[in-house]
Amino acid sequence: MVKTLEEIANYIVADGKGILAADESTGTIKKRFDSINVESTEDNRRDYREMLFRASSMSEAIGGVILFDETLRQSAANGDLLREVISNQKSLPGIKVDQGVSPLNDSDKETATKGLDGLDERCQEYDTLGARFTKWRAVITISGNDIPTNECIDQNMESLADYALIAQKNNMVPIVEPEVIMDGDHSIDRCFDVSKKTLSKLYDFLDKKDVNIRGTLLKPNMVVSGTTNAIQAPIEEVAEKTLECLKSSISNDTPGVVFLSGGQSDIDATAHLDAMNKIGGFPWKLSFSYGRALQQAALKSWQGKPENTVAAQEAFNHRAIMNKKAALGEWSMSLEK
Ligand code: 13P
Repeated sequence: MVKTLEEIANYIVADGKGILAADESTGTIKKRFDSINVESTEDNRRDYREMLFRASSMSEAIGGVILFDETLRQSAANGDLLREVISNQKSLPGIKVDQGVSPLNDSDKETATKGLDGLDERCQEYDTLGARFTKWRAVITISGNDIPTNECIDQNMESLADYALIAQKNNMVPIVEPEVIMDGDHSIDRCFDVSKKTLSKLYDFLDKKDVNIRGTLLKPNMVVSGTTNAIQAPIEEVAEKTLECLKSSISNDTPGVVFLSGGQSDIDATAHLDAMNKIGGFPWKLSFSYGRALQQAALKSWQGKPENTVAAQEAFNHRAIMNKKAALGEWSMSLEK
């Protein structure tokens, strides 16, 4: 049984395992279901997520699953608690604890993440419900030369450190997620600069507030070209610049870096992770905490129909195994069907 914060963090990323981000808020999962014309009811959300959690690749490739509040309390169709379905797959249940974003100083571009009020009490309950780790997402947007502002970075990174301390006090590993958004026409170098500044600030605050870094996981974006920039950096460049950025800004004590997919295609998310692990030469585990890049194919196969469960699980298994291989630097394009 993994007990300490360090043990939990290391367990989640052991042997090429990564995280399934299944913590879409009620609004976000509705958008995902809209794309396959399925109504977002409590039962449909349960059936979809139960399908994922019972997939055979879970025990092999997924060390932790991030849940939304509803799912942590929800039971499977046969009455088993979904969090126990996850534990029976030797994976750890975790919980998203931020409460979304609101505009920063009435800005139409920048936001601050909400959720520090009452966080300690909520974490106490999540601990008793069996959550072993938590997640908090901060959003940093790039726009022109003036955004992000220093204020946006400072405020969001300080909140991440405050959150991390509260999660640790309640025996749960904090996943700190500062997401520099891909959307925009910026170059990969601008993404590099903003990501480096953001991560450096985050680690300053974690240090200043005495967060136990060995009991955290970092969930960053990769350093990529803005989605509408005419020049899209190739895989090798993304891998090299992401590693350079991490090496120059985060602590060597971080046990694991688990990337978000952020809107990358399934194959890009896998190929980038694999390329970084093939380069090597860093002290942390480098793995995945993908939402869309693990679920997209499964969601499409599922279509809300019980008769598609096996096909959907196969689609999920394939991506989970491919990403495990990428976390070990053992993936190649020839493994894709
Ligand atoms: P994506 O991999 O779809 O970006 O989701 C990860 C996540 O948890 C965002 O908070």
